[in-house]
Amino acid sequence: MLLDVRNVSRLFGTKAAVDEVSFSVARSGFVGVIGRSGAGKSTFLRMMNRLTDATSGEILFEGRDILALTGAEKRDWQSQCAMIFQQFNLVPRMDVVSNVLHGTLAHRSTLASMFGFWPDDDVLKALAILDRLGIAEQASKRAEALSGGQQQRVAIARALMQDPKVILADEPIASLDPMNAQVVMDTLRRIHDEDNRMVIANLHTLDTARRYCDRVIGMRDGRIVFDGTPDQLTTGVARDIYGADASFSESATSTSIDALPSRGDDAYAREMLA
Ligand SMILES: Nc1ncnc2c1ncn2[C@@H]1O[C@H](COP(=O)(O)OP(=O)(O)O)[C@@H](O)[C@H]1O
Ligand SMILES: [Mg+2]
Repeated sequence: MLLDVRNVSRLFGTKAAVDEVSFSVARSGFVGVIGRSGAGKSTFLRMMNRLTDATSGEILFEGRDILALTGAEKRDWQSQCAMIFQQFNLVPRMDVVSNVLHGTLAHRSTLASMFGFWPDDDVLKALAILDRLGIAEQASKRAEALSGGQQQRVAIARALMQDPKVILADEPIASLDPMNAQVVMDTLRRIHDEDNRMVIANLHTLDTARRYCDRVIGMRDGRIVFDGTPDQLTTGVARDIYGADASFSESATSTSIDALPSRGDDAYAREMLA
């Protein structure tokens, strides 16, 4: 088992933001977590990369409980699971390459990075990653000069500098227009397919989850209320995840990425679930 989440909870006061969540993933996959605002999606991702402590439970990755790690082992885990945020979290006035190079900070001395001394190998690696993501020509521009979609690709490039095993993306396209949303999701999917890195993405829209994920987990009030393939994510199931009220409609939970047939890679999804 690659990832085994066992009865993980996180309380804030008496309220359980994440409530006895359990699921497992047999091998690297593209996992989407959906649910309305407040369902506990961000809290779960933040526990995975140890930005927030769990109140109870275990998260085994490759057999090791990452919730129990401390010190250097905890930092090592954090560099193995890179985080992508809705607001990109770049340094706006800094050039694109320097932003990407910050992905190596965990491995470098503070002094060298303070003065902007980046090893040549790291600079070349950063440029190669930018090239791979189709934004090499932006390398010397300030991050703030780029479009939202380009900025999110810079954030993905920064994540790749860490050579992570897992990419955790918290609503990566929530601030983007449909065209840029598609470019960013295509990029994440490609990184999964080509590098075999696991992606766990919090997504607030159904159509994106259906189109890009092998496996979808639906959360409501901190609990998992759905765990299955995109094909099993019917309108009835979605109504249950998002709350069954008369105003529910698919369009309210859509990013307007052109509806495509789901990836249909059902055998793959089933294998992952096994
Ligand atoms: N730092 C915090 N302090 C108190 N309550 C929090 C905190 N972070 C999240 N919560 C609460 O936990 C619940 C889940 O939040 P969150 O994980 O952000 O959900 P989502 O990402 O699905 O919108 C919400 O009710 C939210 O108000
Ligand atoms: Mg959130």
